[in-house]
Amino acid sequence: MKATNRRDTRTSGEHNHESAVAHHYDTLTEEFYLGGWNPDHIHFGLFEREDRPRRGESLQESAGLARAVERMVDVVVAPAAIAAHHHVVDAGCGVGGTAIRLVRQTGCRVTGVSLSSKQLEIARRKAADTNLGHRIAFNFADCSRSLPFADNSVDAVVNIESACHYSDRERFLREVRRILKPGGRLAAMDWMTVDNLSKDQNDRFIRPLCEAWPVSGLESEGSYTGKLRDAGLRLIEFEGFDGKDEENLRIIKERLNLLLTLKLFGIPETTVQQYTALFEPLCEAWSNKVFVLGRYCAERP
Ligand SMILES: C[S@@+](CC[C@H](N)C(=O)[O-])C[C@H]1O[C@@H](n2cnc3c(N)ncnc32)[C@H](O)[C@@H]1O
Repeated sequence: MKATNRRDTRTSGEHNHESAVAHHYDTLTEEFYLGGWNPDHIHFGLFEREDRPRRGESLQESAGLARAVERMVDVVVAPAAIAAHHHVVDAGCGVGGTAIRLVRQTGCRVTGVSLSSKQLEIARRKAADTNLGHRIAFNFADCSRSLPFADNSVDAVVNIESACHYSDRERFLREVRRILKPGGRLAAMDWMTVDNLSKDQNDRFIRPLCEAWPVSGLESEGSYTGKLRDAGLRLIEFEGFDGKDEENLRIIKERLNLLLTLKLFGIPETTVQQYTALFEPLCEAWSNKVFVLGRYCAERP
């Protein structure tokens, strides 16, 4: 498939939001995400006891973090039952870690889409290094707009920690339904909030988090269930990782403390401020149990 060009019919509010998301990933991917978390994946991990980084072990050296991050992919995509003859779309594909893993594991064909040109460049390079390049393509697309795939043409859509950014998630879900073949599945994991969030909790924890990252708003299990139904998708399963994802929060808190120490070692003040401004509201929301990670699988009837 040829790289697609943006057909820009967005309102200026949407434009600003999506531009801010693209800027966030274009500027932070290499150092902050790949250098500070995982070289292939930009999402949280699902930890088993043995994955916890040992005391004194740096994040980058921690094989446990890498295992937990890959386990998250495997757990999220499992209900999509991806097979060798499938064409899979990875919506919000990051630097291609999920796409490459899926092709290696199943022999399927994957098209990853993202609005970060920096990430697409890295993803294409990684794919070229794997010898799997003929089964993988990475293209520009804005998932808040129309997806560049024909009706009924895709066997599965994977969507990991990406939809929380979209200014129009309802449209994204309708687009997913349009491109999926009947019986095709959407396997997703997202930043979410609890059902029945109070206004006070929203003002204190969720709004600052959304402004910092930049996230357009968080769905909950209840709101996702309604939006999937309205888009014509049938919810197969939903799992909140409440409690199973605590190790991520512990690592972020450690990271926050480390930043303050690094300041003493000459890391530029602006970098420390920028990273701290991201971590603090996330830690606050997560510690106060209004932020949750959740996954779901839905099917096009
Ligand atoms: C947290 S990263 C997750 C990346 C990847 N799914 C992973 O797990 O490694 C969020 C991704 O969503 C993409 N994204 C955010 N908003 C988007 C949009 N409106 N259209 C397309 N991609 C978007 C970003 O460019 C980035 O690749």
